[in-house]
Amino acid sequence: MKAAVLGIGGMGMGVMATCRDCGRLAGVVGYDIAGTQIALACERGFVATTDLDGILNDPAVGVVFVTASNNAHKPLVMAALRAGKAVMCEKPIATTLEDAREMVDEAERRGLFFQIGFELRYSKLYTTIKNWIDQGLLGPVMNTQCTYICSEFHNKGSWRNRLSTGGGMFGEKLSHYVDLPRWWIGSPVTEVHSVCAPNVVPYYEVRDNYHTVYRFANGAVSELTFHMAVGETFAGDPLRDQLDQQKDDGHALRYLIVGTRGAAATDVFFRRIKRWEFGDSPTGMTSKWVEDITWNPKDDQEYYHNTHGQNLDIICRVLAGQPPRHPARDAYETMRLVEAAERSADSGNIQQMAAM
Ligand SMILES: NC(=O)c1ccc[n+]([C@@H]2O[C@H](COP(=O)([O-])OP(=O)(O)OC[C@H]3O[C@@H](n4cnc5c(N)ncnc54)[C@H](O)[C@@H]3O)[C@@H](O)[C@H]2O)c1
Repeated sequence: MKAAVLGIGGMGMGVMATCRDCGRLAGVVGYDIAGTQIALACERGFVATTDLDGILNDPAVGVVFVTASNNAHKPLVMAALRAGKAVMCEKPIATTLEDAREMVDEAERRGLFFQIGFELRYSKLYTTIKNWIDQGLLGPVMNTQCTYICSEFHNKGSWRNRLSTGGGMFGEKLSHYVDLPRWWIGSPVTEVHSVCAPNVVPYYEVRDNYHTVYRFANGAVSELTFHMAVGETFAGDPLRDQLDQQKDDGHALRYLIVGTRGAAATDVFFRRIKRWEFGDSPTGMTSKWVEDITWNPKDDQEYYHNTHGQNLDIICRVLAGQPPRHPARDAYETMRLVEAAERSADSGNIQQMAAM
């Protein structure tokens, strides 16, 4: 089986390398509308073309990765599904919820493999939390808080800054950080409320900040605080370790996860995962810090950004004729929360979520 990668910018080039180096595929071909990207891919020794029909009509191409900018996801995914291919599409599924629904419906109607790139579900930082929850070490999760502060690294002119091409900041950046608590808590969301201040970044059409709260049917609540501007602008030596440089310069990406029997915390920039166990004593409730995990910088990608592991899993599953580990229908539920967060920010109202 061969793979195709549609959209070979930053993300697509990485997927091309995974496909080429995994030892499981007969080849990989890239496609982009930008001639500069085709030339760059060829320079790096990849096969790349502007002939999309040629790729989709090739029966040897069994799996298609859609890694173009968000506005191109729908047409590319629909074309690949109509050609009968297994498809992986980067998050957000699409720039509108209606488009996302049409795409998921189309894949299901055709009985085709369709998975969305929520790669944090493969990253050790977050699978460790999921394993602790599944083992009952935290008890039912009742409360999660996420703080995400970063620099403005999209830069002027990016497709990410426009609503028509990016679809909004929540889908583009924060969909991961809503997908995780939804995965951990495992209960449907009933209410979503976002409040946002006026932007600090003057040239964004999308928002640069959110305080968003989710209430789950089991009573749990989840909060997400985001701001994009504060962390120091990265202008360093690309050979220097970016995490170490940014850990104390205003960047933050951490979770607190509180259950009835214990709690856990993750911190990307300080490379930490912690766990506490709750207990009882004659004087009151106790908490004992029982685990403190860190990792080696060489394992950074595997711990907090495991697109490589995700895409290998997808290739193996398609080759074995297995369904997606995380079906697109589940990712669509996260997209509903993304859309509700933006709608709440627009209207100022709490959004009540209808059951799926
Ligand atoms: N899962 C993650 O953590 C993660 C991280 C980064 C990016 N992404 C996603 O990956 C996708 C690409 O992001 P990126 O950082 O590579 O962006 P990028 O700007 O580096 O690359 C996007 C590429 O898409 C191409 N393109 C645009 N329209 C196209 C079309 N109609 N057909 C073919 N190619 C087209 C552009 O020419 C460009 O080369 C986005 O959906 C983004 O949200 C996900």
